[in-house]
Amino acid sequence: MHVFDHKKDLISFVQETKNKNRTVGLVPTMGALHQGHLSLIEGALKQNDLVVVSIFVNPTQFDKKDDLEKYPRNLEYDLQQLKRVSNDIVVFTPLAEEIYNGNVQSQSYEFDGLDKVMEGEFRAGHFDGVGTIVELFLKIVSPNRAYFGEKDFQQLQIIRKMVETKELPYEIIGCPIEREPHGLAMSSRNERLPKTTREQAGFIYETLESARAKFGTESAKEIADWVTFQFDKNPVFDLEYFEIADEDTLTPIIKKQEKRKYRAFIAVYADDVRLIDNLRLN
Ligand code: PAF
Repeated sequence: MHVFDHKKDLISFVQETKNKNRTVGLVPTMGALHQGHLSLIEGALKQNDLVVVSIFVNPTQFDKKDDLEKYPRNLEYDLQQLKRVSNDIVVFTPLAEEIYNGNVQSQSYEFDGLDKVMEGEFRAGHFDGVGTIVELFLKIVSPNRAYFGEKDFQQLQIIRKMVETKELPYEIIGCPIEREPHGLAMSSRNERLPKTTREQAGFIYETLESARAKFGTESAKEIADWVTFQFDKNPVFDLEYFEIADEDTLTPIIKKQEKRKYRAFIAVYADDVRLIDNLRLN
């Protein structure tokens, strides 16, 4: 398995692959790899001859210094896991200065309002940071396809919007959420949870499932009130937001429309660890 720190080395390796008419998939990650990432990588390996996995904790998408500092990092373990998966993986582990060409700052993007709600409302500048780094990676690797988890569904829609607006020639593929045995959506941040909290965090998914069951008969307001009440009663988790929104526009549901697809989105704090999840409702 090749590991490249410098983009020029990666670019020439990928170019050689493409010259042989072989396809390339990109899986951007911030490391601390778990089964959720591995399933993206396995999906990418099925559809492409070579898969580039980037491991880079992107500073510009963190709105809190503390969150960036505490973000789990374990490159050696990540590399060991990837080695076991396939020889057709190439890992890219750039330094911030190089990937950002010496200017570690976000560009600003027009995401057609997708960035104004939910995560965008609570994490200032987050999606400009994500857009900037994903665009940089896409342009360096120039993959046939790039893979993103539906756990960050808003991020996935924003990346789709960026690729569409800028007419970038890459296919963006969303992959289903992987869950821990108790139902908690897999995330690198889960590593920061105490063991008992991590087990209890299935509560978040259970609440989403109950919201789905209620969606057939109750109004969005009734469901949101019920969810708020469940969290008020729970001493372990603090609800930041719960929203039922249209999957494509991410705008909050006003009146259910037959042909639209809706999802419930949630953000929760367990101590100082922020967890997000979402579930398709219809
Ligand atoms: O989803 C993530 O891990 C990150 O937001 C991404 C897409 C790798 C960009 O840094």
